[in-house]
Amino acid sequence: MKKIIIIDGGPRKNMNTAQMIESFAKGAKSASDQIEVKTIRLYDLEYKGCVACLACKVRGSKFHDVCARKDGLTDVLGEAAYADGLVLATPVYFGRATAQLDAFMERLIYPWLSYNDMSVHAPKHMPTAVIYTMNAYGPHMQSIRPGQDQLELLLAVSLGKPERIEALNTMQVKNYDRYDMDGFADFNKEKYHEEHWSQDVQTAFDAGKRMAEKILSRE
Ligand SMILES: Cc1cc2nc3c(=O)[nH]c(=O)nc-3n(C[C@H](O)[C@H](O)[C@H](O)COP(=O)(O)O)c2cc1C
Repeated sequence: MKKIIIIDGGPRKNMNTAQMIESFAKGAKSASDQIEVKTIRLYDLEYKGCVACLACKVRGSKFHDVCARKDGLTDVLGEAAYADGLVLATPVYFGRATAQLDAFMERLIYPWLSYNDMSVHAPKHMPTAVIYTMNAYGPHMQSIRPGQDQLELLLAVSLGKPERIEALNTMQVKNYDRYDMDGFADFNKEKYHEEHWSQDVQTAFDAGKRMAEKILSRE
């Protein structure tokens, strides 16, 4: 069996990011019964970002592969580092990933960074992907959409260059009449959703299938 780990960096269980994840997972599993997909919800775990204990930088340290800190993230970091494919999924918060996902990345990547030659060495390379969902789209893109993104850069220098999958102009709430969100009036959210959501979900499905096929072709 080959294993894809999806890290769900969003707080909401059934909304946009979760639906994109579900579709990616379905796509991956549709490729072969040799593909297993496990989704890990960061918001269900108790952990902190890197606490700079520097145990991974002690000469001769055995913590170069996985962070030394013991908390709710410890096992997840091991699973991610030794998976066959890794997906990071997040709603965009202030133009970037959620704080939970950033904290996960600090813990995942920092042990792999060598201060001897400034290189980054992950224990293995694998196909990776990043799924973003966001309000931004078209004319409303500036500054609220991840640009030269740190998440993707960190993956590219460690595990492998990620594929980016995006859902734009998402329905942040189901009923906009109930909320003080009049600024979204000209985003035409409902109409956009009707016209694009099924394609967004399909894009995630296709990307999942592609990742699975890539993994299987590496055997
Ligand atoms: C704290 C916070 C900050 C946000 N910042 C942005 C942003 O900078 N750019 C953007 O396009 N959307 C932003 N959004 C909207 C969400 O990214 C968007 O609604 C997303 O699809 C929600 O995903 P979910 O339905 O899985 O929770 C923000 C939402 C919250 C709660």
